[in-house]
Amino acid sequence: EVCVPSVEQVRRSGENENRTQRLDCKQIKALRFLSPETLQEVSARLRKDLLRGLGKHSHHKAPVKMLPTFVRATPDGTEKGDFLALDLGGTNFRVLHVRVEEEAQKVQICAIPQEMMLGTGEQLFDHIATCLGDFLESHNLKGQTLPLGFTFSFPCEQLEIDKSILIRWTKGFNCSGVEGKDVVQLLKEAIHRRGDYHIGSVAMVNDTVGTMMSCGYKDQSCEIGMIIGTGTNACYMEEIKNVKRIEGKDGRMCINTEWGGFGDDGCLDDILTEFDVEVDKTSINPGVHIFEKMISGMYLGEIVRLVLVKMTKDKLLFKGQISEALGTPGRFETKFISEIEDGLENAKKILTELGLDWDLVDASVVRLVCDTISSRSAYLCAAALATLVNRIRNNRKLGHLKTTVGVDGTVYRKHPTFSSKLQKAVRLLAPQCDITFLVSEDGSGTGAAMVTAVAQRLAHQSRLLEESDGEDNEEEEEEEEEGQ
Ligand code: BGC
Repeated sequence: EVCVPSVEQVRRSGENENRTQRLDCKQIKALRFLSPETLQEVSARLRKDLLRGLGKHSHHKAPVKMLPTFVRATPDGTEKGDFLALDLGGTNFRVLHVRVEEEAQKVQICAIPQEMMLGTGEQLFDHIATCLGDFLESHNLKGQTLPLGFTFSFPCEQLEIDKSILIRWTKGFNCSGVEGKDVVQLLKEAIHRRGDYHIGSVAMVNDTVGTMMSCGYKDQSCEIGMIIGTGTNACYMEEIKNVKRIEGKDGRMCINTEWGGFGDDGCLDDILTEFDVEVDKTSINPGVHIFEKMISGMYLGEIVRLVLVKMTKDKLLFKGQISEALGTPGRFETKFISEIEDGLENAKKILTELGLDWDLVDASVVRLVCDTISSRSAYLCAAALATLVNRIRNNRKLGHLKTTVGVDGTVYRKHPTFSSKLQKAVRLLAPQCDITFLVSEDGSGTGAAMVTAVAQRLAHQSRLLEESDGEDNEEEEEEEEEGQ
């Protein structure tokens, strides 16, 4: 059983005379203060920002971008086919061969070295084309021309399913010459430069969309995709009539919210702490993706480290001694948070590895700090998700909404209590919604293939319709001829 200490428990466990002072210190208090009312307020602010993002004239300046994805339908379970998929922007870069109806897939993970994440776009896409080429070679697929689903988990202004302009890099990527360009084109050019294989039609997909689509294959009421991993984001099915910059009034389209950008206009400044400000300042993209920086795996470890450094400087931890590791940015990994919260023994081991001179109260306080930061992340995500489900319920004028959220991401999957905290808080903030959470089995890979498969199914259905229209006409013509 996982046991996260309450303030009371830690208070009791300590022998140290200044233990009360350690636990009542203002850093922890400030971080723990996210009352249900505050979360409701956060959710209400996001509700307004969703509208700004959807608006015809307001979307240019909107911090929450609400990007149309050109995905108009979720799977109906009959999709089939053989596809290639690329997945860039999560913990690993992966190449996949997916056979949809069999759920069979072959996967290869390719490392992207740090220098390449900060190099030129051409180097990055050449590397991707090489990984794909090697994969095709080793699986004997080079002679075939398979359709390709490309999961590219960065904010893109999508013009069509195969035309997608990168708005900005996030999550530690910063390759030159890609922002403002069509990413599909850059991939095709890189493949062309090699000239030793071909690919079929390309479908560009955000990882949230891939997650929604792969979960939607199993559960057809899945209409939201959410990622809480290296970065955070969500997509959902919106009524087209509300997406003011898209022509048409009927049906729905999946909108990639890019909720990581919430707060970029300063609207969350009142809940930011000095640690959030510091994490933003020292990131490679200061001033943007403020909400993401309070929530996702790329940043949580660093927030904890900064809290611990501050508390140590204030002589509340480790006898006031900051070890070299604790003093080094990035050294406190996000996965330590999960491990530390999972058990006191893990906490002791990690603190020792970080070269810290700890006592039992130190170890308990560190667990409390980890719990505080990961809970805050879970509650903020819950507030954002509540905004989406409440919006879908209002859109459809339903008293009660039953829906499924497809979820992926290391923080959600690996942290011992994150998912249960998030779910509990969403129930509180969206009481008229009954939500099933479905963890996606490799959503980003198979989901991209699924988008292509759904598009093919729709095209096939509309061809059948056209053909049957044609047949009717022929019959009519024949009848007319007979009558003459
Ligand atoms: C990106 C999103 C992505 C999310 C999760 C964010 O940094 O902007 O496009 O969905 O990370 O991977």
